[in-house]
Amino acid sequence: MTIHILTVVPELLESPLSHSIIKRAQAKGLLQVHIHHLRKWAVNEYGQVDDYQYGGGAGMVMMPEPLANAIDELSKEQSFDEIIFLTPDGETLTQKTANTLSLKENLLFICGHYKGIDQRIREQYVTKEISIGDYVLSGGELAAAVLVDAIGRLIPGVLNDETSALTDSFQDNLLAPPVYTRPAEWRGSKVPDILLSGNTAKIEDWRYEEALQRTKERRPDLLED
Ligand code: ADE
Repeated sequence: MTIHILTVVPELLESPLSHSIIKRAQAKGLLQVHIHHLRKWAVNEYGQVDDYQYGGGAGMVMMPEPLANAIDELSKEQSFDEIIFLTPDGETLTQKTANTLSLKENLLFICGHYKGIDQRIREQYVTKEISIGDYVLSGGELAAAVLVDAIGRLIPGVLNDETSALTDSFQDNLLAPPVYTRPAEWRGSKVPDILLSGNTAKIEDWRYEEALQRTKERRPDLLED
């Protein structure tokens, strides 16, 4: 999979995408991430990519021309399955969306800054708008990093233990059950006996019950679907 990201602050994306699982996904050649500085398509020699908003009001708006030129140029080299704008008024990111996007070949993410991007880009180019939660970030970069991570780890072959993504929280609308490691007794608190029993069928049942219980307590809304 290839993900292209358009941003005015590429530095914000570098570290989150250079470590751990996403680093490994790129090293294995399963994921390519290309970060593009929008200023490359600035309207003038001062690197301008934003302007005052019509109608007045505080905050600048990202101009349509640099974004359109960037998208047009990148689209010549590949056709994008989705052009995704990260924005707090988009659809809230869910595991289901991450699953769907992990099956695509080419994605383009647009990171908004300032007051946002000119509405005409949203209408004429963007195919999907995603929010990572009901709060406002300073820009779309951290949201884009979250989205790359959520999608990248689902690409077949990225995780060493192929089954581990399947048992993540949300994968079947359930939160994940509790997990334990050594020692079996720590500060007077014991690992549940069942996990030491070696009986895999019973362990699976126990995990399912714990996941269900946790979901009922913490996120009953997930069980309504
Ligand atoms: N940009 C600013 N806030 C955001 C959010 N919550 N999700 C996605 N992009 C954003």
